[in-house]
Amino acid sequence: MADKPRLTTTAGAPVVSNQYSQTAGRNGPILLQDYQLIEKLAHQNRERIPERVVHAKGWGAQGTFTVTHDISKYSCAALFSEVGKTTEVLARWSTVAGEAGAADAERDVRGFSLKFFTEEGNWDMVGNNTPIFFVRDAFKFPDFIRTQKRHPKTNLRSPEAMFDFWAAQPESVHQVTILMSDRGIPVNPARMNGYGSHTFSMWNAEGVRHWVKFHFKTQMGHKTYTNAEAEALIGKTRESYQEDLYNMIESGNFPKWTMYIQVMAEEDAAKQPFNPFDLTKVWPHSDFPLIEVGEVEMNRNPENYFQMVENAAYSPSNVVPGIGFSPDKMLQARIFSYADAHRYRLGTHYEALPANAPKAAANVNHYHKDGPMRFFTNDFGNPDAYYEPNQYDGPVADFSKKEPPLRIDGDADRYVVEDADADYVQPRQLYLEVLDQDERNRLHHNMAAAMGPCSESVTERWLAVLERVHPDYAAGVRQALKDASDVNAIAVTDDSAIEAAE
Ligand code: NDP
Ligand code: HEM
Repeated sequence: MADKPRLTTTAGAPVVSNQYSQTAGRNGPILLQDYQLIEKLAHQNRERIPERVVHAKGWGAQGTFTVTHDISKYSCAALFSEVGKTTEVLARWSTVAGEAGAADAERDVRGFSLKFFTEEGNWDMVGNNTPIFFVRDAFKFPDFIRTQKRHPKTNLRSPEAMFDFWAAQPESVHQVTILMSDRGIPVNPARMNGYGSHTFSMWNAEGVRHWVKFHFKTQMGHKTYTNAEAEALIGKTRESYQEDLYNMIESGNFPKWTMYIQVMAEEDAAKQPFNPFDLTKVWPHSDFPLIEVGEVEMNRNPENYFQMVENAAYSPSNVVPGIGFSPDKMLQARIFSYADAHRYRLGTHYEALPANAPKAAANVNHYHKDGPMRFFTNDFGNPDAYYEPNQYDGPVADFSKKEPPLRIDGDADRYVVEDADADYVQPRQLYLEVLDQDERNRLHHNMAAAMGPCSESVTERWLAVLERVHPDYAAGVRQALKDASDVNAIAVTDDSAIEAAE
């Protein structure tokens, strides 16, 4: 005992025993007054918080962002103010559909979240490893996610539900193509790109707004698993990303990404052949070249995973002066959804937790008071100023940081976006011009493997969507489905032969 710290209760009193419960007699029952035992059991019952409704399985790291190129003509954000400037970053990568215990190397889109602790508050870049998404209207998001999660009766994942949903809306085929391509299973977070995916905006010191897209390109290069490699790996370890990431950082082999932006003049949005605020579309590089901004380096493993990664609360609503939103309706919905999720998952004061507290902000002064777990001083040194306006020089809003006006026109309505032909253009370019024949063959095979158990009607509806991307795409997947069913038939025949022999 002499050279070890004394164990105490959470109220600071010495603990007499953490091994032997207090009983009535040597072999008797436990006394209710053995409060420390009850406290220990009760605390254990409260050690879990709800997992994220999506992106539940994740891996995190800490590091820095360094500006390498001057983009002040586009953004007056403090973090981009000078070349060489560094900003602390907390990153979390994730899979979308699996629960918190899901295997890391599953085929899925990966989340790619960066929290930049800037002196003007936290900027959260909550993106994916794909530049686009499955749907373009937030009404469709909860249904889409339902098809990715478990069937209410079988409690199993349901390819029938996934492809039924996707077949009903061609806008999904772009993202499904990327998901089923080689890039659907990166070997770990360091070997994939990140994208803000939505169109955002930036404004400069003169108040000029540009539309922007964010890209983070892996410096370690893309590396992916085939289905067979992933299956073999998952048989050995379900935690391959956590292992790779942790060990890379511990050994000084720091993952790095180069940050770029694509920029569109505000008035050019209306001139594009596609809607630049549609999340199912990219901006072609040839028209909107990548402009280099800086480097993200992950160089520190969090000391405590729960505290820094499970408690991390990212939200597209966290922007800083110089970075803004766009009319993308998916982005608009996400601005609401995330903070609401955090209040449910982590509690009212989630932004005061160590993972989220705006540590680099010069001042944090707000009028939110009290509520559960209000463990920080909430008077910010000025106890009389607990309402606004007040006569006590309490904090006041800074109108000079207002973003420039956003021009909006048109009638409020529910616009049906029937963009069917346009929905096939970019997937076709990806299929024909970006993927080579071997990649196309693997895409066919991966998609057939994912669709295997689907009914004939869902299969035919989905093949009709692929046909409109390109006839070779539909034919390739149809052939891969046939090959897979022939292999299954042979396997069944072999089994029957063995059974017959027995
Ligand atoms: P480019 O020919 O200039 O570039 C092709 C892009 O495709 C590169 O960014 C490359 O990423 C990426 N890529 C390569 N293989 C895959 C894959 N299996 N899944 C997803 N992305 C992949 O493209 P364009 O700008 O002319 O667009 C053509 C098509 O490329 C688009 O329709 C879109 O599907 C896809 N794409 C476009 C992006 C964009 O922002 N313009 C971004 C990503 C994909 P990398 O450079 O890291 O190798
Ligand atoms: C997580 C909602 C679209 C990327 C989440 C969470 C919710 C949510 C509720 C859980 C948050 C938490 O509990 O911490 C939505 C809605 C969407 C949408 C309503 C569409 C309307 C997207 C898109 C992207 C994305 C388009 C990427 C471009 C992420 C990521 C996470 C996440 C990366 C995990 C964040 C983390 O690491 O903690 N989403 N989402 N989501 N979402 Fe979305």
